Amino acid sequence: MKTALVTGGAGFIGSHLVDRLVSEGIRVVVLDNLATGNWDNLAHHDEQHVTRVLWDVSEPWPDDILPRAVDWVFHLASPASPVHYRRLAVQTLMVNSVGTKHALDFALRSHARFILASTSESYGDPEVSPQPETYWGRVNPVGPRSCYDESKRFGEALTSEYVRTYDLDARILRFFNCYGPRMQAEDGRVVPNFVRQALQGEALTVYGTGQQTRSFCYVSDEVDGIWRAAVADGIAGEIINIGNPEERTILNFAEMVADIAGITLQIEPRPLPPDDPTNRCPDISKARRILGWEPRTDLRVGLEETFRFFRSQGSP
Ligand SMILES: NC(=O)c1ccc[n+]([C@@H]2O[C@H](COP(=O)([O-])OP(=O)(O)OC[C@H]3O[C@@H](n4cnc5c(N)ncnc54)[C@H](O)[C@@H]3O)[C@@H](O)[C@H]2O)c1
Repeated sequence: MKTALVTGGAGFIGSHLVDRLVSEGIRVVVLDNLATGNWDNLAHHDEQHVTRVLWDVSEPWPDDILPRAVDWVFHLASPASPVHYRRLAVQTLMVNSVGTKHALDFALRSHARFILASTSESYGDPEVSPQPETYWGRVNPVGPRSCYDESKRFGEALTSEYVRTYDLDARILRFFNCYGPRMQAEDGRVVPNFVRQALQGEALTVYGTGQQTRSFCYVSDEVDGIWRAAVADGIAGEIINIGNPEERTILNFAEMVADIAGITLQIEPRPLPPDDPTNRCPDISKARRILGWEPRTDLRVGLEETFRFFRSQGSP
């Protein structure tokens, strides 16, 4: 039986990845310190298929309780929403630097393939749209978002160096905005914000003019991209965007949310946070070419699933 180690597996994307791995017949070990995740996301798995280890991956790893050999290391541990990474700024810098080094060393020791969850934030506030993997980005190195953006960029540099220096079979995936069930209602990202506010009949909070764009990838599509990258041969060192290229303005997105909720759209304007990117749209031609991957879930369908999840959690 093949084995995968997933850091951050109790979180939103990580828990969906664990579901997919288990459905592929893989045994999974999850390392998570529950900084922003929850074991409830894995409650439907038994210990035989999914081993849960409560651990801060920025600390030296507990080799005595981990398997000696695994087939894949998926490194997803990191706060991901601005609300969480501002609250956990130093921890975010640590998990994406020191934590990434521990994960890379473990992958080397156990002869595993390594998959780094990086981010479109590596591009910062971009001057080109859509963003191809070859674009170097425009990132403020010392701003309020830099604990996340720059530590992810460091993680990419470290991973690339483990490929060049130690011949590690690693790939770097830059995730763009992903959404779906198991997002936290209060994590401040636009999808849970709008869905929660719509369900409670509140005005939707829009930052700035609402003309900034985002593109939203449903979580099952995201996980399919991760899995394809994990099983693809001959792509060591490759960096691949995983996201949905269908770009829309935040205002347009707010209209769709209100329509699904069956409410009249009301907007509560808020000032734009510093360094907020004005556009976000992945160029996914590389993912299409080398993984045969592209997102398939219609935004409306994915949003309806997300609404169902929030309702099941007790939102009105
Ligand atoms: N969701 C998105 O739209 C998105 C976009 C780009 C990149 N990403 C990346 O994908 C990954 C997963 O994001 P998510 O949205 O599922 O976030 P999440 O907050 O739901 O999950 C992150 C998980 O990592 C765990 N974690 C954090 N610090 C840890 C540490 N020091 N040790 C062990 N575990 C730790 C948390 O407890 C949580 O379970 C992150 O690396 C994030 O940067 C996500």
